Amino acid sequence: MKNTLNKLYKKEKLTMITAYDALFAKIFDDIADIILVGDSLNMSFMGESDTLTATMDQMIYHTKAVCNGAKKAYIVCDMPFGSYSTPEKALENAIRVYKETKADAVKLEGGAEKAKTVKLLTNNAIAVVGHIGLMPQFSRSEGGYRVKGKDEFSKQKLIEDAKAIEEAGAVMLVIEGVKEEVAKEITEMIDIPTIGIGAGRYTTGQVLVWSDMLGFFEEFKPKFVRRYLNGAEKVREAVKKYVEDVKSGNFPGIEEIY
Ligand code: KIV
Ligand code: NA
Repeated sequence: MKNTLNKLYKKEKLTMITAYDALFAKIFDDIADIILVGDSLNMSFMGESDTLTATMDQMIYHTKAVCNGAKKAYIVCDMPFGSYSTPEKALENAIRVYKETKADAVKLEGGAEKAKTVKLLTNNAIAVVGHIGLMPQFSRSEGGYRVKGKDEFSKQKLIEDAKAIEEAGAVMLVIEGVKEEVAKEITEMIDIPTIGIGAGRYTTGQVLVWSDMLGFFEEFKPKFVRRYLNGAEKVREAVKKYVEDVKSGNFPGIEEIY
């Protein structure tokens, strides 16, 4: 049975993992509660240096693929940079996500300043996941990626942002790159589930980017990632074996010939 929001609202630890295609979505479905079609795909999948150049068409293409592969997981589609610069534009693009894919929700980065947008989408029957803290779409304007909530001002801003996003009607909140005690305080304060990444132990759930945790995006190994598989190494070994077998005449073998 499909993971509905009600099912995810039991306040037990929730698990979210990204996926960008049907193949991996099918593997993760049934294991993780939520699949995020993150705009991180622009880096790991597309090879760009940040998420900013991801487009709406790209996100819809990948979300379609993920929806084709996953039948059970709750599916969230990231709104790419520039696709929600005004509430009206956000609504138009979010409607595209709902009409052209089977995603359950859209996710957008931002705090109190995005409350109006979250409210407009919510009022138009679109479920919204918020994303506060380290927001990768701000990496160019802020000149990099920095952990948030390190001082009192930053902490208060995060708390206000979380409250505003919840009040606007968001169904869930991703908290990225935030001091553990701040993510904990926010999680205790708001009623919607929080999903942490580099935000410590006390968020309702956790999210990891599949290509980081499975060791396919080798050049990226920040502190908050736990690598569960040396994926790139394993694939490299297998492909080397294939190449060796072809060169040596060991492949195809008798049982692989028509
Ligand atoms: O794009 C992404 O994968 C994300 C997660 C890191 C939360 O937004
Ligand atoms: Na993202």
